[in-house]
Order: sequence, then structure tokens, then C-alpha cells
Amino acid sequence: MSDRIELKRAKKLKGEIIPPPDKSISHRAVILSSISKGKSIIKNFLRAEDTLSTVNAFRRLGIEIEEKLPPRRPPLPRGGWGGKEGTSSCELIVHGKGFHGLKEPENIIDCGNSGTTIRLLSGILSGNPFLSILTGDDSLRRRPMKRVITPLKQMGTEIAARADDAYPPIVIKGKQLKPIRYEMPIASAQVKSAILLAGLYADGETEIIEPVKSRDHTERMLPSYGAEIKVEGLSIKIKGGTELKGRNTEVPGDFSSAAFFIIAALLMNNSDVIIKNVGINPTRVGLLDALKKMGAEIKLMNVRDVSGEPVADIHCKGAQGLKAINITKEQVPSLIDEFPIICIAATQADGITTIRGSEELRVKESDRIKAMAEGLRKMAAEVEEFKDGLSIKGPAKLKGAVIDSYGDHRIAMAFSIAALIASRTTTIKGVSSVNISFPGFYKILKGLTK
Ligand code: S3P
Repeated sequence: MSDRIELKRAKKLKGEIIPPPDKSISHRAVILSSISKGKSIIKNFLRAEDTLSTVNAFRRLGIEIEEKLPPRRPPLPRGGWGGKEGTSSCELIVHGKGFHGLKEPENIIDCGNSGTTIRLLSGILSGNPFLSILTGDDSLRRRPMKRVITPLKQMGTEIAARADDAYPPIVIKGKQLKPIRYEMPIASAQVKSAILLAGLYADGETEIIEPVKSRDHTERMLPSYGAEIKVEGLSIKIKGGTELKGRNTEVPGDFSSAAFFIIAALLMNNSDVIIKNVGINPTRVGLLDALKKMGAEIKLMNVRDVSGEPVADIHCKGAQGLKAINITKEQVPSLIDEFPIICIAATQADGITTIRGSEELRVKESDRIKAMAEGLRKMAAEVEEFKDGLSIKGPAKLKGAVIDSYGDHRIAMAFSIAALIASRTTTIKGVSSVNISFPGFYKILKGLTK
């Protein structure tokens, strides 16, 4: 794919689509399967750059992982299947060796662009008695790591990182871990999961207290592999030393990927889109509450359970008269990855939409507050930038411009949706980054706008 794309205004979106498998759940499924005893089959695993970083990491740690690609699927009516040649989903067969079955890697482990890979892996490797070095691409090597290093040091491992423990590479010499009680200073599912995974290796009960509930996929998945875990409000307790057992699991579709099409459909009159098989875990769908407050009507159909996660088909139609809203610190974790696309919705809502308490967005794959403020201003929206968020005045008549995605998949996809409601042509730079979470994004978009 050339690294830029030119997009023009579209009239409406129509069709039925299946989003790619959930990225967070795919990472966790391969991690837990690798440290369990026996074979695990993971159905509908996300075959994208980030999750393949986790697969490759465990291969380097001596785990055999087979990938079974589906036969090429015929396109769905009017929409399209979610992958490059229909393959953003695959079946993974993991031959786990138990949590003491990992071997010392012969080389540095490259976690690519994936914060989830480097942070969750740090938790596991802290309890493994060998040397490992974790690094990543230019973006990952600028992301904060002290947040995982501090609690892991308290658990007794030897761990260090560049710039006084701030940034990757991270070097770990795993030790026998001791349990801790840890009050997390920031809401982060990656930090919480790193400590929970380290807790599996500790001799006793580890307790974590979150400031605000973050996505709970790790807590939901751990017991199904045999771990002993207790969740009470914001406290999570995990017992160390219980051997995990391989199992079969299925990954639902990714709400954060579906979000781009939910909002695209809302913003274009006469749109009618059904997004099938989408995870609607309550810790992930703050966007649905926000859109309801903005006046949008979104229907959840066929609500069901898939491997311990709630799933639905989502029906969205073009909406008119959206109203501006305020999004506060407490709401941010449940819509953290939807910030870029919410900003695009805000440009079409009447009034000033404000998102505060979201300084975490400055340390994602890019500084997402800066990237959105810069791109929206180029497209002629009125934006005020704060240290911890943004405010956007709507409704704005967006104008096509040249936008830098800063190599961030969610910024590239958000501005691709903005391009569909803007005058003239919008050029987006750095679009190969969509393969981090959503190979096939542009194929689906083309199918829906046809
Ligand atoms: C993720 C947690 C979130 C989210 C990221 C995936 C996870 O990050 O932004 O895309 O899989 O646990 P933080 O935990 O750093 O907020």
C-alpha cells in the first residue's frame, strides 16, 4: 500500500460488515494460551501487525503457534469482509508449555508498535528466570514504561529501561516474585494486566486497586484458563502458583474498529449500516453512551455471549441534529481508543464538545490530542487544545486538506471518515499504519460507499 491515500466526499454508507477480531482480546488469548499447559485453539484471532508482534514474541520464547487461514470468503452483500484478501481473521493453534515452559530468547524481542505486547510481556517475563530484552519501533520507544517497571520492581524482579526506566528497550532478569498490594496511580488496562500476569508467578495473593475501571478482558479470561481471581469493585485479587490449562476460545469483533463505521454512518444522511459480531463489553463502550447523549439512536441486536464477552450486531443510520456533550475523566477509560473518531463526530454536533481528563492520549501510538487538533484545524474546524484534552465547536463545514496521521492507525482511520464529509479532496499520510489493527479498512470503506 502506498503510504498516503486521497479520499473524497461520499453520499452515504450502506451495507453489512464484519469488523476485524478484537485486538485486546486477541493479545490476551495468545498470551494466556502460551503460558498454559496443553493445546489451545483461538478462533477469530486478529491477524494484524500488533497481534502478530505478540505471536512472534512467544515463538521466540519457544512456543509453537500455528496459524490456519480461512479459505477466501465471498464478499458479503454490499459491504465486505474485514481483511486484506479476507484474512484479518485466522484460527490460531497454540501449544502451551505451562507457565514455567518459556525459554530464554536468543535475541532481542521486537514488539513493533504494540504497547500491549511490551507491557503484558514485561509482567510475564518478570517471573521467568532468564534474561530478555524487549524493544519496539520509533513510536513504542517513546512510550512510558515506568508505570509497569515500578510495580514489577516492587514484586522483586530485576528490570530496567532506557532513560532512568522511562522508555524501551526494557531489560528483564526474571526472579521468584512476591505478591504486592498496588494502588494504581493511573487507569490503564495494560498496567493492570502486566501486574495480574506477574501475580500468577508470585508466591501468594496479589491485589490491584484501580482508580477507575479500565477494560477487564484479562480478568474475564483468566478464570477460564483456571486462574483464581476475585474482582470486587475496583479491587482485583489474583492467587499465584496455579497452573493454567489450555482451552478453546473465540474472539469477538473489535468495538474500537467498528466505532469508525458507527460514526461514519451517523454523520452521513441516508446511511444504513449493520456491523455484525461486535464486542460490547461495558468497559469498552463508553462511546455508545456518549453518542446517546449527543442524540444518536444506535440499535443493538442479537445480544449474546462469546467466550465470556458480550457481543451484538449494531445497526446505525444517519442522524441529524447531534448535540455537543462534555466527556469527563471518569468516562475516558471506557472510550480511550475512540477519542480520534469522537472528535470527528464533535465537528458535526451543535455546540462545543469538550473532552478533559484525557492526558493519557498524549502517550498513545502518537500524541493523539495534538494530532487531532492539528488535523481538524487544517480541515477548518474550530478547536481549542488543553493539556488534558480538546474542545471542538460544531457544526463545522470541513474542508479537504493534507493530514499527517503520524503513523498512528486510529488517527489515519478517523481522518479517513472526516474526508467522507469534507469538501474537495483529503490526503492522509501514513495510512499503512491501519494494518496495526484493521487490515482491510479501506476495502470495507470502499464497499460501503459504492
Ligand atoms: C489496551 C489498553 C489501553 C488501550 C490500548 C489497548 C489493552 O491502553 O488504549 O489500545 O489491550 O489493554 P492503556 O492501558 O495504556 O490505557
